[in-house]
Amino acid sequence: MEKLIINGGDRLKGDVTVSGAKNAALPVVAAALMANGESMLEDIPGLRDVFCMMEILGAMGASVSFQDNVLTVNPNGSEFAEPPYNRVSKLRASYYLMGVLLARQRYARIAMPGGCAIGNRPIDLHLKGFKALGAETSIDHGVVELKASRLSGAKIYLDYPSVGATINIMLAATLASGLTTIENAAREPEIIDLANYLTVMGARIKGVGTDVIKIEGVQELVPAQHRIIPDRIESGSYMIAAAATRGDVYVRNSLSEHLKSLVAKLKEMGVIIQEDIEGVRVTAPNGIRAVDIKTLPHPGFPTDLQPQMMALLTQVDEGTSMVIETVFENRFMHIDELKRMGANISLDGRGALIKPSPLSGARVSASDLRAGVALIIAGLVADGETEIENAYHVERGYEKIELKLKDIGADLKVV
Ligand code: EPU
Repeated sequence: MEKLIINGGDRLKGDVTVSGAKNAALPVVAAALMANGESMLEDIPGLRDVFCMMEILGAMGASVSFQDNVLTVNPNGSEFAEPPYNRVSKLRASYYLMGVLLARQRYARIAMPGGCAIGNRPIDLHLKGFKALGAETSIDHGVVELKASRLSGAKIYLDYPSVGATINIMLAATLASGLTTIENAAREPEIIDLANYLTVMGARIKGVGTDVIKIEGVQELVPAQHRIIPDRIESGSYMIAAAATRGDVYVRNSLSEHLKSLVAKLKEMGVIIQEDIEGVRVTAPNGIRAVDIKTLPHPGFPTDLQPQMMALLTQVDEGTSMVIETVFENRFMHIDELKRMGANISLDGRGALIKPSPLSGARVSASDLRAGVALIIAGLVADGETEIENAYHVERGYEKIELKLKDIGADLKVV
């Protein structure tokens, strides 16, 4: 998907079903290497990032297959080959293989995950955790090497509740000896999902979803079956798109308990949200008001919905909104693109002021996944044709987005 062309102006209307969560699937698929035998993972979204992880596992010597959103992984009991640089450099989540390999074979050599449009994204907290567990860590010419003769449980305080560091330490500690405590741990639902999978595999983990996670190491893990949670960011993106187009959309397979901050903000704006056991219906009357947003670790407002929310905030009927991004230092690349379409946004450091203004179709470019979806939402409300270059970013995180949007009335095509 190189380019997306959207003819804006249609209200979104109908049912859309959310896929399994990308950011839960990626660590779960990596963790399947920790048990000998075949693990069966269900509701895995068919996404570029997932296929990239599959290719990495395959190149390391594991057997992997994917059909109808079921992914099977069998590590084949082998000593793993080094994950291939050309894939690792394209997938940040490949760093979960550090925790997995350290746990499984007490040794890992893996290229640093590449740079990223939304910020520097260092891995110092991951390495600090591995060191506390007894690993020697070094970085040479962009390659991380981890070695441990023995991994022992430790008390680790994270300076920041990093999702990746919490997951990596949890993975390594699962097969360490003794008790590991992670303090100031991240509380994202994807961490709970991984812990649920590891627990079925035989791990002993308590406290996930709070800021103190305790892991009592076990000798080995067994293969297991697991169903991935629904993707809260995909769900939130469709909810925001529905509100922006003043539509009426039922977002199926959506867990609103994972999206409390978004639901609260949409309600504050005047959007009508009706939750039931299967999902959530979003309708947007006229008279939508501006709100202020500050991104924070979960359960605060997710940074992964900030660009989409900004597109919606250009379309309020009254007021000026402020968006403050605290998680990533450079996650405002969508602003210049939204401005090409007529948005009235002024940026000062980590804060952006958004005044409502009509949008019109333009040629824009997606700098990353979530920025790409923000541009799609802007294109849906804009007058005329919007051409989004580098739209392939969107395929990293939104399964069948073209079809799903067409089904609810969007006029778009992939070039
Ligand atoms: N950080 C450090 N040192 C570290 C680790 C993180 O300084 O060792 C900083 C980062 O630079 C960033 C902040 O801490 O400023 C938060 O990073 P975190 O580690 O929590 O994020 P991540 O694990 O790299 C995951 C998701 C992101 C999502 C963030 C925050 C995956 C594969 N990625 O990234 O998802 O934005 O958590 O919720 O799960 C996306 O899906 O579009 C995406 C970017």
